[in-house]
Amino acid sequence: MKDERTLSFDEFDEVVNPRPETCDFDRVVEKALSRRGFLGGVMALGGFAALGGTVLPSGAKAAPNRFAFDAIATSTADDVIVPPGYKAEVLVRWGDPMWSDAPEFDHDTRGSAASQERAFGDNTDGMDVFMHEGHMLLVVNNEYTNRGIIWGNNPDGKAASDDDIAKGMMAHGVSVVEITREDGAWKIVKDSPFNRRITPQTEMVLTGPAAGHDLVKTDADPSGTRTLGTWNNCGNGVTPWGTYLACEENFNGYFSSSETVQDQKPVSITPEMSRYGISTNDWGYGWAKIDNRFDVAKNPNEPNRAGYVVEIDPTDPNSTPRKLTALGRFKHENAEVVIANDGRVVVYMGDDERGEFLYRFVSEGVYAPGAPTDELLERGTLSVAKFGEDGTGEWIDLTPETTGMADAAEIAVHSRMAGSAVGATTMDRPEWIAANPNMAEVYCCLTNNKNRGVKPNAGGDETPAMGPNPRAENHYGQIVRWRPQGGDHTAAGFEWDLYLLAGNPTVHSDAYAGSDNITEANMFNSPDGLAFDSNGLLWIQTDGNYGNDGDFAGHGNNQMLAGDPVTGEVRRFLTGPKECEVTGLTWSPDRRTMFVGIQHPGEKGDSHWPEGGSSVPRSAIIAVTREDGGLVG
Ligand code: FEO
Ligand code: CA
Ligand code: CA
Repeated sequence: MKDERTLSFDEFDEVVNPRPETCDFDRVVEKALSRRGFLGGVMALGGFAALGGTVLPSGAKAAPNRFAFDAIATSTADDVIVPPGYKAEVLVRWGDPMWSDAPEFDHDTRGSAASQERAFGDNTDGMDVFMHEGHMLLVVNNEYTNRGIIWGNNPDGKAASDDDIAKGMMAHGVSVVEITREDGAWKIVKDSPFNRRITPQTEMVLTGPAAGHDLVKTDADPSGTRTLGTWNNCGNGVTPWGTYLACEENFNGYFSSSETVQDQKPVSITPEMSRYGISTNDWGYGWAKIDNRFDVAKNPNEPNRAGYVVEIDPTDPNSTPRKLTALGRFKHENAEVVIANDGRVVVYMGDDERGEFLYRFVSEGVYAPGAPTDELLERGTLSVAKFGEDGTGEWIDLTPETTGMADAAEIAVHSRMAGSAVGATTMDRPEWIAANPNMAEVYCCLTNNKNRGVKPNAGGDETPAMGPNPRAENHYGQIVRWRPQGGDHTAAGFEWDLYLLAGNPTVHSDAYAGSDNITEANMFNSPDGLAFDSNGLLWIQTDGNYGNDGDFAGHGNNQMLAGDPVTGEVRRFLTGPKECEVTGLTWSPDRRTMFVGIQHPGEKGDSHWPEGGSSVPRSAIIAVTREDGGLVG
């Protein structure tokens, strides 16, 4: 087994919940290899041409250039590189104090639980900027922490004390921090009254169909309505009423069981827990040692209180975050909010696990500016996507009738089982979803899936190579897009195609070379972060293999690219430091600064970014501007 400190969340899930290999491998590979035929088939049948819209890359070279920058090469340097005419500066790093009573980050100790609770969290991910009464508030997810880094001062790189465990816990959650630009330089505003750390211990309320249900009641909260904290917040969303949505992703890896059982299934781990990757062992953080909420033998319902989208009001540091059970429980990547033509609120969401599903929530009520909004994300219909081979698809509502489950509460808590019950399409790890601001069209990164065509998902649903997941053993990923029927985001039907298939045309000449808009000049793997700018360019961030050899030769470090949704052209804009992931993207209100997240530089020990020398590598947000002060999106 790999060093457990570098085991990724998805690798961990398979170690604790191994699945048999049951797919007909030869059949699905053969199908996946007919790449051009597949794309041609989708284009012919998908109806995009009939909509008068997009064609995939063939027209790219003749189209006018919408990019304001020259593409850059890949990089293996321990630095952030942006195109000529642009510059990148560090805005805030893991461990930077947010209040003046907290100490500066200490490279020798890497802080304490007390200092971390008053400092910017680790591993920056989804983020957004909010303007409030003249204050610019940056809200950022702090997804997780690398044990080998935060505890790297200990000889074995493991927690040596309860305070070490608590420090790791306090590095998680969400940071709300005021930012400002002075003399051309961005900085955080220490002691701003809006600054706030939301951690795994912050009091929250459960809302929606599962609130108060037996499945979410615990000894500490017999009402099933009040819970503590949020962790592993990956991507995000933002509502038109000015709240921030933090999405709980790999929430499972924090639970363990004090029941020790050898050679047989432990009785404390139910089938429902297994479907969500909960086992007797946690991911190595040891939270159950300091807080028995995380011991499922003692608190079997506690995992049912995590895995949600959390709504936060960044303008009120005393507000109570709300867990939105109506939006389902799974490994939420992000939450892309769209207001439908009739005013209903639509939220598109992916479950980032191999072979899990794409979801859509449609509110019961309609959004009206100034009217109360609390109930909009509490009541509505949750659906899952089913893709056809013919370029069409449909949203299937998850109801007691369609799923055979008892009620809306059970569907909210066990959404994965509900999706399986209605035959949702198993996907190649849905990551960020982004809606095109210029038309009713939605894009989703399907980052990779080595199990495609090899193993079923954790619920036993087969994962044949088909539809928007056409390649068996998919190490590169793809971006699917769909257009709702009639331009109506609440419609049951949609049409879809693939915007791109990532790949390596210097190594492969088959489906693994990628789609025609992927070339030696712009190749990458594992698209993850995704966001549209105000010009309608699609920004793509990667969290992939940075080994730069074999299948990934020439891909270099993780990176950020921009894609033109109309022509299909893709250009590389930024490369990150060693062993990082580039994730999280937002803009200043004047669109002259782009904020980009650099997560886990040196996750395997080979980076000293951003401070260099022998410093501890630190996740950070960078501010990217044009040297001429121009717009950046
Ligand atoms: Fe936190 Fe799916 O990435
Ligand atoms: Ca991600
Ligand atoms: Ca990822």
